[in-house]
Amino acid sequence: MLIGKPSDLPSSAITSKDQYLNRRRFLRGAAAAGAAALGASRVADILSPRTAARAGTKLQTVKSPLTTTGEQLTSYDDITHYNNFYEFGVDKGDPVKNAGILPTRPWTVRVEGLVKQPKTFDIETLLKLRPLEDRIYRHRCVEAWSMVIPWVGYSLSEFIGQCEPLSKAKYVQFLSYYDKHVEKWTNESSIFWPYTEGLRMDEAMNPLALLTFGLYGEVLPNQDGAPVRIVVPWKYGFKSAKSIVAVRFLEKQPPTTWSQQNAQEYGFYSNVNPSVDHPRWSQKTERRIGQPFYAQRRMTLMFNGYADQVAGLYKGMDLRANY
Ligand code: MTE
Repeated sequence: MLIGKPSDLPSSAITSKDQYLNRRRFLRGAAAAGAAALGASRVADILSPRTAARAGTKLQTVKSPLTTTGEQLTSYDDITHYNNFYEFGVDKGDPVKNAGILPTRPWTVRVEGLVKQPKTFDIETLLKLRPLEDRIYRHRCVEAWSMVIPWVGYSLSEFIGQCEPLSKAKYVQFLSYYDKHVEKWTNESSIFWPYTEGLRMDEAMNPLALLTFGLYGEVLPNQDGAPVRIVVPWKYGFKSAKSIVAVRFLEKQPPTTWSQQNAQEYGFYSNVNPSVDHPRWSQKTERRIGQPFYAQRRMTLMFNGYADQVAGLYKGMDLRANY
């Protein structure tokens, strides 16, 4: 896994979405007014990629009991400007600059492998399959930073039900969009494309695993995995494949991007576990993005704080061997 450089740290303080949008509106308004005087060619100079961020389309959502409460949300600004999306560059600030090119409509998700019948779901159908829920989850990256994100989606299990997998299916694999003419940054890393991840079926059926369409009540910005991604909150962030185009049901454990890269460092399970260190750094603590310096460092929680809901999935397993 590529590790963030100190210069990647976002400088923004915690900002609510409303403050964020108001600030953006003000900046856009001021820039538009100034543009007439300065000439259109100067507008690009005024609007840096950070200030040019636009509000996404609103999604209709319902509240969910499966939500983490009581923790300060990470600002929209940080969630959308500090990303790992290697198809669009290796630096944390690259996806927001480059992912705008991703064509998110039309968009389909193929269902393949051990299913009653292969199918293809249109994104509009997926958006309407179930009521979209607001789910606030902790988001813990293997690089030892974390966020708290208000995602929008519904349980992956609801979608899997529609896929009608056969009882032989023991694993589910997710494949991300890949087109090297669109994602021109794929040769910056040695990843075998397309980006792919997988879960055991019982993990995928846990209600916490989320088929995700939005954040902060709006459609996902491209850099966060538009138009649909997976979020598995008790695992390190790299298990959450972005911009998925295919879901495959399999009998055997599928290869995954990071275990193909370096199986010693990135296992199939990748559950957040403070007592199993990464071979090159500790996982005992994490840095909460966007918090004031003195409050950034915090203890990492077993299964990222979701032990009550998921520990049973791993009963009797050696989590050191199955990292
Ligand atoms: N999915 C794809 N297709 N490509 C990627 O590079 N990066 C992963 C994961 N999903 C990645 C991906 C990693 S390493 C992390 S930590 C999370 O996305 C980051 O999600 P975020 O940018 O929304 O925080």
